[in-house]
Amino acid sequence: MLGAPRRSAVISAIGVCSLVTVWLSSGRLQSTSLGSTIVSTIGQQKESIPQTAGIVSNGHLPAQASLYFNQVFSPGPADSYDFPALRKACDRAEWHEDVYLQCGGMFAGMTSIMSEVKGCFKMAVEAGTGLILPRIPIRDNTNLLDFQNNEDETGDAYMPYDQWFDAKHLIDSLERACPRMKVLHPDQLKPGHVHKVDVKNHWEIDVTKAPGYHFTVSHFWTGNPFRKFFDVEFAKLQKDHNNSGTGISVIKISALFLLYNITNDPTGGDLKLWNEIAMLIRFLEKPRKIVNQLLQHINRPYYGVHFRAENDSIWNSAEEQMNNDLDVLDKAWARYGESSTTGINSYKPLVYLACGDEKQVKMFADVGKTRGWEVTHKWELAQKSTNPETLKMINELAFDFQGAVDMGMMLQSWFFIGISGSAFSNTVAHARDPIGRYRWSSLEPEDDGGARSVLVTDGVQSSYPCCL
Ligand SMILES: *[C@@H]1O[C@H](CO)[C@@H](O)[C@H](O)[C@H]1NC(C)=O
Ligand SMILES: *[C@@H]1O[C@H](CO)[C@@H](O)[C@H](O)[C@H]1NC(C)=O
Ligand SMILES: *[C@@H]1O[C@H](CO)[C@@H](O)[C@H](O)[C@H]1NC(C)=O
Repeated sequence: MLGAPRRSAVISAIGVCSLVTVWLSSGRLQSTSLGSTIVSTIGQQKESIPQTAGIVSNGHLPAQASLYFNQVFSPGPADSYDFPALRKACDRAEWHEDVYLQCGGMFAGMTSIMSEVKGCFKMAVEAGTGLILPRIPIRDNTNLLDFQNNEDETGDAYMPYDQWFDAKHLIDSLERACPRMKVLHPDQLKPGHVHKVDVKNHWEIDVTKAPGYHFTVSHFWTGNPFRKFFDVEFAKLQKDHNNSGTGISVIKISALFLLYNITNDPTGGDLKLWNEIAMLIRFLEKPRKIVNQLLQHINRPYYGVHFRAENDSIWNSAEEQMNNDLDVLDKAWARYGESSTTGINSYKPLVYLACGDEKQVKMFADVGKTRGWEVTHKWELAQKSTNPETLKMINELAFDFQGAVDMGMMLQSWFFIGISGSAFSNTVAHARDPIGRYRWSSLEPEDDGGARSVLVTDGVQSSYPCCL
């Protein structure tokens, strides 16, 4: 069970908003066919392929973390990964022809959204349905508590998946690993679209009505599979509605935060599937390119610190975090670095701060210096660069996509320090661990599998509720 303060922290972290999404049906639609040509028109962007930086050897990362970085952040095309767990799940599913899930209810910070998207994809794989690419609101760039979500899911802040993430990577990967899952762009449901798709049913399933469901308490797991719930609800919809006519059935459903407990599977299969679904969610070219440009400006190992000091923080103060982080930096260096007398690890690492507040990083850099650490951040690295384009590109990104840049930098760091209550910190820590879950502090005597991560308790939550 979640303690009350812990749960309220999660809820405030994702915004006090309408938890149940009310959808507006997107109106009557007419005509045309489905097919892979539709799918292949989505998200085609030409990639420019920058040089891979010398420092991005990936050699210091566990293989799984390096694979994740490749799929989600590689500047050039991602390697053609075969997604074995996803393939298995798709082979096992019973597929509903011409039935598509349209997930809604997604909002909050970037890593919470990534988790909600994973939940959406998992629901579709398990139910054996196609996918309408979700529309997701991007939060306001200055008022970080304004998630710009609203009940009818309309407005400029709502952007389709291909403006958040690389839809081509998703579609290409699904074509290889899960060919029966068809993907449509939401615009294809609108009148006048060149590849418009006929919809015969606009239906909705309310996940919050699942027996025993409580928001943020993970509900579905291998012993209580989503598929079972879906089949019952889908059968009811078919029974209660006139199902004749031609076209697809679109089923709206909320991809609720922390819906799945993916660790409650003794075979470990559910976690493997979850980790692979995470690798479908690849960033767009700009943040990927910036990460790789920043990495080229760093010529020695660096430790990454997620300094959660933006003014929407609900955790301990910036000063307290900074002091905790500096203590952990000293311990990490004593344990993993100092004793190396030769090679690249014999240099005291740089510290890279992941932080969305340019003023707070200055304080950390000043105090860090008095404790023997050289501290930098994306703005400084970009300023020092001979390529003025990098800084311009960073500043042009929305707040949450700047977060994507920091996420890439945290993944590549030689050691990572985050805070226990943050979805961003936990997402990074999970991705760095070879099992895809943060297990324990790398300062503990137990083998960390190369994860080299510490989540410092933030004064509110000692751990993040299950499961991002
Ligand atoms: C954070 O700062 C921005 C810009 O200065 C401001 O608009 C916003 O209201 C602040 N938010 C909080 C929670 O203080
Ligand atoms: C069911 O829908 C079809 C097509 O829209 C219509 O022709 C038919 O009359 C409807 N049947 C019933 C029983 O409402
Ligand atoms: C998820 O599953 C794990 C492993 O069985 C269990 O320890 C944990 O309490 C579960 N969490 C929730 C929120 O159900």
